[in-house]
Amino acid sequence: MERDIQKILLTEEQIHSRIAQLGEILTEEYKDKNPVIVGVMKGVVIFYSDMIRHIKTQCQMDFMWISSYAGTESTGNMIVRRDVSCDIKGRHVLILEDIFDTGNSLDFTVKHLLSKDPASVKVCTLLDKPERRNPNITLKPDYTGFTIPNEFVVGYGLDFNEHFRNLPFVGILSPEAYQN
Ligand code: IMP
Ligand code: MG
Repeated sequence: MERDIQKILLTEEQIHSRIAQLGEILTEEYKDKNPVIVGVMKGVVIFYSDMIRHIKTQCQMDFMWISSYAGTESTGNMIVRRDVSCDIKGRHVLILEDIFDTGNSLDFTVKHLLSKDPASVKVCTLLDKPERRNPNITLKPDYTGFTIPNEFVVGYGLDFNEHFRNLPFVGILSPEAYQN
């Protein structure tokens, strides 16, 4: 598996220290707001479980599952496969996402959650790839772990055809791995 990685972009140590920094900011932001922290499956699961333990205030966990991807290309067609399970009306919502790429998925997710009349919706993404942004999307992440170049990355929850999510770091997939 690791031989399919061309380069390690973010080490475990880099990711963990950035999460600790973000945790301090988010703890301050959401103190006494009892937020609902929504993870967008599946890519976010590793980031979510590390991030949530650094948000040191009362909060609730919830998950959504939306689909938009086949291989490395966004189809642009988004469906809610699993919606949040709690009532978010009047609640402060923080969405955690693995990567903000074209922006289509998060734009869809934010609009979907806003339609439920929450008090606020903010977005925290581990990775941002601004070069790939759909020009029609004006949404910007409120909190970003790392801004990365326009490369297809895997690991720390991110996949290529459902593989590599279990790598502890974020790495650039080697071109040969696409062909196999
Ligand atoms: P967007 O809708 O184009 O912003 O893409 C969002 C989703 O596409 C992410 O939540 C990921 O699941 C997937 N994705 C985008 N870029 C990458 C990548 O470099 N590696 C793995 N998955 C990616
Ligand atoms: Mg995702």
